[in-house]
Amino acid sequence: MTIPELSGVHPAWLPPEAFRAIGSRRTLVLGDDVLADTVRAEVAHACARYGGTLHDDRDGAYDLVLALDSEAGVGPEGFVLSRHDGATTVVAGGPAGLLYGLFEVVRRGETAFGADLPAEAHRPALRRRMLDHWDNIDVHPVMGQVERGYAGGSIFWREGGPRDLTRVRAYGRLLAACGINAVAVNNVNVHATEARLLTDRLGEVAAIADELRPYGIRVHLSVNFASPVALGGLATADPLDDGVRAWWARTTERVYATIPDFGGYVVKADSEGQPGPFAYGRDHADGANMLADALAPFGGVVHWRAFVYDHRQDWRDRSTDRARAAYDHFAPLDGRFRDNAIVQVKNGPIDFQVREPVSPVIAAMPDTRLAVELQVTQEYTGQQKHVCYLAPMWREVLGFRPWGPDGRTVADVATELVAVSNVGDDPYWTGHPLAQANLYAFGRLAWAPGLDPADLLDEWIGLTFPVAGDPGRLRRILHEIMDGSWRTYERYTAPLGVGFMVRPGHHYGPDVDGYEYTPWGTYHFADRDGVGVDRTRATGTGFTGQYPKPWSDVYESPAKCPDELLLFFHHVPYGHVLHDGTTVIQHIYDTHFAGAEQAAAMRDRWEKAAGDVPPELHARVRELLDEQVRSAREWRDQINTYFFRKSGAADAHGRRIY
Ligand code: GCU
Repeated sequence: MTIPELSGVHPAWLPPEAFRAIGSRRTLVLGDDVLADTVRAEVAHACARYGGTLHDDRDGAYDLVLALDSEAGVGPEGFVLSRHDGATTVVAGGPAGLLYGLFEVVRRGETAFGADLPAEAHRPALRRRMLDHWDNIDVHPVMGQVERGYAGGSIFWREGGPRDLTRVRAYGRLLAACGINAVAVNNVNVHATEARLLTDRLGEVAAIADELRPYGIRVHLSVNFASPVALGGLATADPLDDGVRAWWARTTERVYATIPDFGGYVVKADSEGQPGPFAYGRDHADGANMLADALAPFGGVVHWRAFVYDHRQDWRDRSTDRARAAYDHFAPLDGRFRDNAIVQVKNGPIDFQVREPVSPVIAAMPDTRLAVELQVTQEYTGQQKHVCYLAPMWREVLGFRPWGPDGRTVADVATELVAVSNVGDDPYWTGHPLAQANLYAFGRLAWAPGLDPADLLDEWIGLTFPVAGDPGRLRRILHEIMDGSWRTYERYTAPLGVGFMVRPGHHYGPDVDGYEYTPWGTYHFADRDGVGVDRTRATGTGFTGQYPKPWSDVYESPAKCPDELLLFFHHVPYGHVLHDGTTVIQHIYDTHFAGAEQAAAMRDRWEKAAGDVPPELHARVRELLDEQVRSAREWRDQINTYFFRKSGAADAHGRRIY
């Protein structure tokens, strides 16, 4: 096992310097398994650079000991970290714990070898911490190679075939270092070419699995529900048909014969044109259970997405509410899913907007395994042209208590956390170099949902920019730019939770009415008197009733509803007064002026970091900040002008509105 070193690719949070503290010490690694071998290879690699030594027997004194103890009481992925008598010790519950323990020591650097540390137990809060790639093999005529990808082409495929996978090994290494343990390799919209990854192109998936296995990452595959017809030549894909069930059983058996540690299937069914069980009069439990049954003998799971809604809706029909759809389809099925069928729910009821309430499905399925799905790729949050550090949003989602202050959190309810990846073959992995922080923070939050986003940013900065001229200054500048960037983005885009004022199709930049009279179900209903969607039980779509108390009442009441979600739940007059005393229309003006100014201030701050990061990286971020400033102004002016024209209300501060 050799540690991948790539030229021309940014090392992200694992530059050689991140291993300095380990690499200069005497380290003992005990354990035999592919992951223990990886740990040994990592240590040896670091020692070759920094002069330390790697050992495999207990005689002697060591600075660092990594060993296994299945009785450690921290589960197979956990570890206990301690330091006394000059030795730092990682006792892991299983081989994966060794790897995660190693990366914890990497994160701490010299401090791991400083003061004594009483035993600290670490184990992941969520058992599966997964990235979904929306990668295609072919370049799709509309969506490109990576659907909603903003970082170049796929790291798995190029020109219709598999590519050199050295980089995939390096990717696995980065993911393991932030705690991710599963990857789905292909787009949830499974087109004809990619559907064949399940059958005659399975070798390509196996090759990816080989690269990721040494870093403890299992590979999953998005499959097309209609595969028995399209690939198997059957007349139906009915999930209750014996022939169909036998086809999936046989096909799955072949998958496991090729990839024994294969993770399972991801399915987008009856959603945005993808085939599904509805065509046969069956429901989503029937569909998911059929695949769960095929996977069960091998320990695999199916991630069945709850992103099901009518995308051919009539905008004149005020009774249909896209926000309601996932709950209406899935909540009645609670208790019917197999143990290895995981219902995968987007964090909000609509679609990864900059601000949404937490999906009510998460509280509605106590007898179902749930994965919460986040979007690390910045489809609706600046497309990796804008700085938008998303950890503060995810932290809010994971810490949300659907049953009120004494109840459990979203992180307690979910068994897994999944995110749509933001990675491509771009030299910085993520297009915008600062978007790396989102990927890093996602993995860390999936491991420990209570972590503070500012601390995570600190970790990421410390690892990623080890040789900066003045680390204190760079750290300060990056915090100033990134800590509040999600809220800044929110300020200059769609206001108060109303969402979707983006250009249809590619979803970049403002277009207030772009989706207003379309079939997609994403409306704001602005007229001359007011704006927002009435989702109350009293007079609206009744969506508020999908929440348990206290939220069903909080959201129902315009007086109690949190300001930032007001227009998600209520249609209010422009003169409606928010909790902070401003009117809705004045809030729109104020936040849009402020957001655009804050974007400009980010750019100014970045100038001061010129000497602290590599010049090419500095230049790339500067260019992107120019675009962010331009785009934020465009948002400001379109939104403000639109609402000024609709409402006729003057800005209280007399600023220029066009
Ligand atoms: C969004 C996105 C699509 C994607 C879909 C999904 O609607 O725009 O590209 O396919 O989400 O999550 O399935």
